[in-house]
Amino acid sequence: MADHEARARELLAPHISAYYGATAGSGGGSAEGIAAWSAVRFRPRALVDLSSIDTATTVLGTPVSMPVLVAPMAQQLGAHPEGEAAMGRATATAGTLLGVSTNTAVPFADIAAAGAPWWFQVYVTRDHHLTELMVQRAVEAGARALMLTVDMLALLPPDVNPRAWPESPARARMSNLTAAELAAADPHAVEMDPSIGFDTVAWLRQLSGLPVLVKGILRGDDALRAVDAGAAGVVVSTHGGRRLGPSVTAAAALPEVVAAIGDGAEVYADSGIRSAEHVAAALALGARAVFIGRPALWALAAEGENGVRDVLTGLAAELQQVMTQLGAPRIADLTSDLVATTPRAAS
Ligand code: FNR
Repeated sequence: MADHEARARELLAPHISAYYGATAGSGGGSAEGIAAWSAVRFRPRALVDLSSIDTATTVLGTPVSMPVLVAPMAQQLGAHPEGEAAMGRATATAGTLLGVSTNTAVPFADIAAAGAPWWFQVYVTRDHHLTELMVQRAVEAGARALMLTVDMLALLPPDVNPRAWPESPARARMSNLTAAELAAADPHAVEMDPSIGFDTVAWLRQLSGLPVLVKGILRGDDALRAVDAGAAGVVVSTHGGRRLGPSVTAAAALPEVVAAIGDGAEVYADSGIRSAEHVAAALALGARAVFIGRPALWALAAEGENGVRDVLTGLAAELQQVMTQLGAPRIADLTSDLVATTPRAAS
């Protein structure tokens, strides 16, 4: 994965790699997010029947080959001429699921044609009608769930903001709105609505008929509110350390969220997942599955579709090894008794 990042940084224009690699504050939060997963210590089981190991699971009822999904990330045309369509083909080959950002510049039909099951990530625009149009189009194109992202209301600084990029296809975003719709909209209409509340979950459910996950939750009380508002689950996430430098890590927040909502909904996690050991740690702490972000994006930029496929299939193979070493032959065997220590809230 480190090789992919180094290669991608050589290949990409500096403004694109700066955006992909951006972190909030001093940047330490992203590294801490990775370290917090590494800090989990396991209590492996002995003398378990390990004659077959199975990484398959389901996410909101959709079967996947492993509990590792690809996170929604904006503007992948900057990494690859086919962007999310290429990411989707690699995801399909690996047998897993793709998150698709509101800020994709690739038509939903092309992403759907890649063959992977996908969830549409929603940023609610100030003009709610624009969000309605995008959600309806995502539903028509086959999205199986919505992910309402609630943690990125601050504008990115200009040095890492795609809106300051030179004119190019990579700069486009929200391309599932027509040029006429975008041109007719007030420039502020496409900004994120800072006033939305938990009632947005019911609105999106009603609009789409799909399950809604709330992404960017770091507290048990917020997780509970999301589920009470009708969410099918939450994604514990620091947006890959891009939201707030001195934030609690996802690994530290996960047990609190799991304890707050119990079996009432599905809990996902991301931010800093870099190995199968991290995947096993997140699942043992109560996540149903995890998302990987930058490792997939750097791989797409460095090696295209095959690079992403190799990252995903490599993680699946490593996960089989880790499950063997843990004495956990099925995903359902990755339970909290396997964890000796949980990262402290301050870590
Ligand atoms: C993101 N992420 C993100 N999340 C989201 O909900 N909508 C979006 O449009 C984007 N865009 C985006 C762009 C880039 C370049 C990155 C790196 C990330 C966040 C993403 O879904 C995920 O939470 C993190 O990337 C996970 O952390 P790691 O795996 O990158 O450490």
